[in-house]
Amino acid sequence: MRVAIGSDHAGLEMKNEVMAVLKEMGHESQDFGTDRPQSVDYPDFGEKVSDAVSRGVVERGVLICGTGIGMSIVANKFRNIRAALCNDLFSAKMSRLHNDSNILVLGGRVIGKDLAKEIVKTWMSTPFEGGRHENRLLKIRLIEEKTITKGDCRQS
Ligand code: RB5
Repeated sequence: MRVAIGSDHAGLEMKNEVMAVLKEMGHESQDFGTDRPQSVDYPDFGEKVSDAVSRGVVERGVLICGTGIGMSIVANKFRNIRAALCNDLFSAKMSRLHNDSNILVLGGRVIGKDLAKEIVKTWMSTPFEGGRHENRLLKIRLIEEKTITKGDCRQS
């Protein structure tokens, strides 16, 4: 699979670890930065990765910041994106089985690198279960369309 990956300074070390795991697994990663330890703004990198996944340039994305929260907020603004902040194995597995998540978000300051690697392996290898979950994803898509065409859906 082609995987876009990005982080801010707080996720840089973990990004390098994750890229090595993806390579071991036979996936191709496209690194959108950052590549420096200097402080940067996570939305700049979250936007690049989310845009690539949203437009279908790559199948999946991985984003890493300090907590994973900022990157999740950014990624879920994009059409077609189902970004899941998973700092544990169970969430990683369920986000694939039930939510068909297409961006994995990790907290570089929350978990250690060994757990992060296991989470990536689980997330990359777990399929979407489909079935009753298809309709729920369709409902998410309808909300997305409504908010894009009408602005804030709470006003409609
Ligand atoms: C950077 O200090 C930090 O705010 C960022 O990495 C992230 O945790 C934001 O959600």
